[in-house]
Amino acid sequence: MEDKEFSDIIALISRQTGIIPRESHKSGILNFIEKRKKEIDLGGLDYYNYIILNKSELDILLNNATVNETYFFREEAQFSLLKTKLLPELQSKLGTSPVKIWSAAASSGEEIYSLYLLASSLGIKTECIATDINTSVLEKCESGTYKANSVKAVDGAKFNYLLSPYFTQNKAVQIPKEICAKIERNKINLSKPESIFPKNVNLVFIRNVFVYFTVEMRKAILQKIVDDSLAPDGYIFLSMNEIATIDSTIIPKGLEKCSDGNVFYFHKKVT
Ligand SMILES: C[S@@+](CC[C@H](N)C(=O)[O-])C[C@H]1O[C@@H](n2cnc3c(N)ncnc32)[C@H](O)[C@@H]1O
Repeated sequence: MEDKEFSDIIALISRQTGIIPRESHKSGILNFIEKRKKEIDLGGLDYYNYIILNKSELDILLNNATVNETYFFREEAQFSLLKTKLLPELQSKLGTSPVKIWSAAASSGEEIYSLYLLASSLGIKTECIATDINTSVLEKCESGTYKANSVKAVDGAKFNYLLSPYFTQNKAVQIPKEICAKIERNKINLSKPESIFPKNVNLVFIRNVFVYFTVEMRKAILQKIVDDSLAPDGYIFLSMNEIATIDSTIIPKGLEKCSDGNVFYFHKKVT
């Protein structure tokens, strides 16, 4: 493929998603494009111009240009803090109202089911929303069907007992349909200012996606979550690596960085 064709496609992906792909990520995108070009009739166009003229191809490209690595109870220390402190506190503040939880770069759903199963095990009612830019991972979330590699033997293992009723052969997981149906799923592009974020959320998980964005994009998304989405007294969790890179100059007013042991998170102050 021509260098220009590839760099135009990478620039298009960045404009559409905010993602700035690293070299290793770019080679995965290149492999997809090479494969895709053999499957379709480009009608004499290069792939970039084909996408520009065939809008449905853009979704196909974007569904294959994201990194979707995830697993159940990832970063289990965060789930421990939710279990012992934050979820019970939220419930006692909210009374009979459900705790509203948003997994904002949900990938195939292991994160939102982990949150749902943990809260349910504590007798806490939730309203759960899973969103992603990638529609094929959201379909996987809807199916609730996972291979054994979504369950880890080290990180997350402390909470794998919550999955045990749903293990099928070889430690694969099938989340029951009744539970799958409780999760609202939507395509939301975090990078677009016009995207409509869920309202009045008590707990936002937005983990392992900031790593792909510029500092300016991280700042804008954090601000939009605080302005449009997060309820007073609500919490935002990034991955531990990501929160370590958030400089105090990009933390929106009204949001405080808190820690409990080695777990860091954001809390929206009550005004
Ligand atoms: C590595 S996965 C993280 C999954 C899960 N949050 C976790 O930490 O295990 C990153 C996800 O971010 C999604 N993503 C990338 N850019 C996005 C954007 N602009 N808006 C919404 N989701 C995006 C990808 O499709 C992918 O599913």
